[in-house]
Amino acid sequence: MAKLLVVDDESNLRMVVQKEMSRQGHEVGTASDGEEAWEKLEEQDYDVLLCDINMPRLDGIALLRRMRERSQHPPEVIMLTGQATVETAIEAMKLGAYDYLTKPYRITELAVLVTQAADKQKLKIDNQRLRAQLERTHSSMPEIIGESRQMKEILRLVQRVAHSDTSVLITGESGTGKELIAQAIHRLSPRNSRSFVDLNCAALQDTLLESELFGHEAGAFSGARARKLGLFEMADSGTLFLDEIMEMPAALQSKLLRALETRSFFRVGGVKKVDVDVRLLAATNRNPQQSIHDGVFRADLLYRVNSFEIHIPPLRERREDIEPLARHLLQKIAGPSAPDLAPSAIDALTSYSWTGNVRHLRNCLERAVLLADNGQITLKELPPDVVNNKSEPMVSVSYNSSGETSTTSFQNSAPANLRDVERQQILSALEQTSWHRGKTAELLGISPSTLYRRLREYDLDSR
Ligand SMILES: Nc1ncnc2c1ncn2[C@@H]1O[C@H](COP(=O)(O)OP(=O)(O)OP(=O)(O)O)[C@@H](O)[C@H]1O
Ligand SMILES: [Mg+2]
Repeated sequence: MAKLLVVDDESNLRMVVQKEMSRQGHEVGTASDGEEAWEKLEEQDYDVLLCDINMPRLDGIALLRRMRERSQHPPEVIMLTGQATVETAIEAMKLGAYDYLTKPYRITELAVLVTQAADKQKLKIDNQRLRAQLERTHSSMPEIIGESRQMKEILRLVQRVAHSDTSVLITGESGTGKELIAQAIHRLSPRNSRSFVDLNCAALQDTLLESELFGHEAGAFSGARARKLGLFEMADSGTLFLDEIMEMPAALQSKLLRALETRSFFRVGGVKKVDVDVRLLAATNRNPQQSIHDGVFRADLLYRVNSFEIHIPPLRERREDIEPLARHLLQKIAGPSAPDLAPSAIDALTSYSWTGNVRHLRNCLERAVLLADNGQITLKELPPDVVNNKSEPMVSVSYNSSGETSTTSFQNSAPANLRDVERQQILSALEQTSWHRGKTAELLGISPSTLYRRLREYDLDSR
């Protein structure tokens, strides 16, 4: 049994077909022209459309075109046509109609076609459902390791906040797992079958960032040839993750604030308001209060964004996590053939102050896996700094929001200015890697986007 819609301007024909098809066990609706059919199609899904070609207001071909352009789940279509319009029927086939019948036709003929078209439609829908299911299982919960009291508390907060639409600000140093936590919140939320869209606010220029976020209309600026949907629109009924949100340019901050307040926005160069339903997550490795104090971030926007704040402490403040994390990361890096960790290596990893946190630890293990030749990672496979427990002070200075630890790790070098030291560290890393940015970020244990931002800040990006 299928759900049919009969579209014909001749009421007699409409009624005959409706009666016969109902007798075959189908559920049958009717419409007297293309426009009315379109309204019904927007209200609910049909399996098969039986459609006349010549009709007032909107004819059969125009209806087909509209369905093709705008319909999410278009039904299969059987065109019913008078002799004179066979050519049009062929055009209809090109537009994706399932088949056509020329009037007068026999009801048995029509019944067979309807059953075939309905079967095809059912297959199509099953297929879509399967695909959606597959996608969901593939992008399932990220595995988060957390043995420490702090991480357990964070996971508890994640569980609790995920179900609501509350916006969440995730803070913490570089590499602590902010993005991972954002993904977990989305996965545990009722929006988990919809999209998770992320945008790194530090990675783009002002103007590009605006069109990236809100999209643009054709001709909005030179180079904008066609309309482009922005991330905000793509995240509709899903989650939008704004990474490094404190780096967002001021002009865009006020636009974002307005979009969040009104749940709507304008595309760049657009005049029509677009409504959206988006759950916002954001992350930063800066201290938000400091950014407000420095005048680089709007207080009212912060208030919108951090209805709920989750702070992930650096790895050196939760050393119980290091060993389980190391084992987990080794599995992820090398799979079942992952080398074991010698007790001395575990000790060294646990007591080291990981300036780039989990990402830093991961980089170190990746290297160790390559070096380990007898199935075990010993001190020999670890960098000298880790073995001698000499931590690089750089990252803890600039990326620590509390500022506490940074000063202690800096006392030895007694710098005149923390920024000078940081710049020096970046320069020396750049020189070590012959200015290869990817390798430099890795060496410093920070993300490439953080590095790019620093290069810009210190005027090192022109080189
Ligand atoms: N608790 C954890 N369990 C498992 N993996 C983790 C955990 N925390 C971080 N990771 C891993 O460490 C790496 C860095 O994490 P992530 O990218 O989420 O950090 P971040 O805080 O967003 O860093 P940045 O500020 O540099 O963008 C990723 O590969 C992530 O999967
Ligand atoms: Mg990140």
